[in-house]
Amino acid sequence: MSESPLVPPGVDPTRPSPARIYDYVLGGTYNFQVDREAAERIRAQSPDLADAAWVNRGFHQRAARWMAAGQQIRQFIDIGSGLPTQGNTHGVVQEAVPGARVVYVDKDPMVRAYASEFLSGNGTTAVITADLCEPDSILKAPALQALIDFDQPVGLLMTAVLHFVADDADPWALAARYVGALAPGSYLALSHVTYEGLSPRLVEEGVRVYQQADGVYPRSREQIGRFFSGLELLPPYPGAEPAVTHIGLWGAEAHELADSDGSHWWFGGVARRP
Ligand SMILES: C[S@@+](CC[C@H](N)C(=O)[O-])C[C@H]1O[C@@H](n2cnc3c(N)ncnc32)[C@H](O)[C@@H]1O
Repeated sequence: MSESPLVPPGVDPTRPSPARIYDYVLGGTYNFQVDREAAERIRAQSPDLADAAWVNRGFHQRAARWMAAGQQIRQFIDIGSGLPTQGNTHGVVQEAVPGARVVYVDKDPMVRAYASEFLSGNGTTAVITADLCEPDSILKAPALQALIDFDQPVGLLMTAVLHFVADDADPWALAARYVGALAPGSYLALSHVTYEGLSPRLVEEGVRVYQQADGVYPRSREQIGRFFSGLELLPPYPGAEPAVTHIGLWGAEAHELADSDGSHWWFGGVARRP
C-alpha cells in the first residue's frame, strides 16, 4: 500500500507513531510512509511482526467479548484504543450486550481525526484525546462521565499501551489509579510487550525504531505481572492456573495452537477488581 491519508491537524507525518505503525501492520490505511518504513525495519528482524499484532488484537477482542458476554459488563473504557480497525471494541461488546457503552481514549490526534467508526454507536460511544499519564483529567472528562456509571462494574482495556510509558512515569501506579476508580466486580484486560525469550537484536531494533516516536519499554513477565497487583487474576483458559501468560493463550479454544511465535512477544491477562 503506498497511498497515504490526508494529514490531520496536529499530526506530524515525518515521525512514526505507534497508532499508525500498528494500523499498517494490521493492514489498515491510516498510516504514512514513515510508519511503513518503521514497521518494515522491525519486520526485517522478525517475520512474526504481523502475527504478533494480530495475536494482540485477538486477545483484546476475546477479553472484551468475555467481559460482555460472560460477565454482563455493560460499560468499557478502552485506553490506548488505537485507530479504528476490524472489530472495534464497541462492535465486539455490543454484539453480546446491545447498548453497551464504550469510551475510547488515545493520545494520538490521528485517532481523533479518523474516529468516525468509533462514533457509530448511536450515542453509546465517545472518543477522548488524552495522555493516559493524566488519569484525573481522563476520569473527570465530561464525555467519559456521561457514559460511565462508576457505581457499576466497568471493563477496562489497556492493551498494548503501557509499554509506551517509561518507568519514570510509573505505569504501575497509573494502571492502579484507573482500576482504583472502578467499582468492585470491574475487570482489567492488559497486554504488554516483553523482551524475555525474544532475540536481543529484535528487541534492540524495536527500541531504536520507537525512539523516533516517544519510546517503547519492553518489560519482564514479573514486571508485567505487577500491573495486576491487588486484583484477582483469572486462569487464561479452563483448567489452567490463574497467571500472566503469553496472550495468545488467553481465552483460546485450542491453546496448544494459540501459543504462536507472535504470542511470545507479549505477556498479559485479565483480572477482577475484588
Ligand atoms: C499498539 S496500539 C494498541 C491499540 C489497541 N489497544 C490494541 O491493543 O489493539 C497503542 C496505542 O496506544 C496509544 N498510546 C500510546 N501511549 C499513550 C498514552 N500515554 N496515552 C494514551 N494513548 C497512548 C497509541 O497512540 C496507540 O494508538
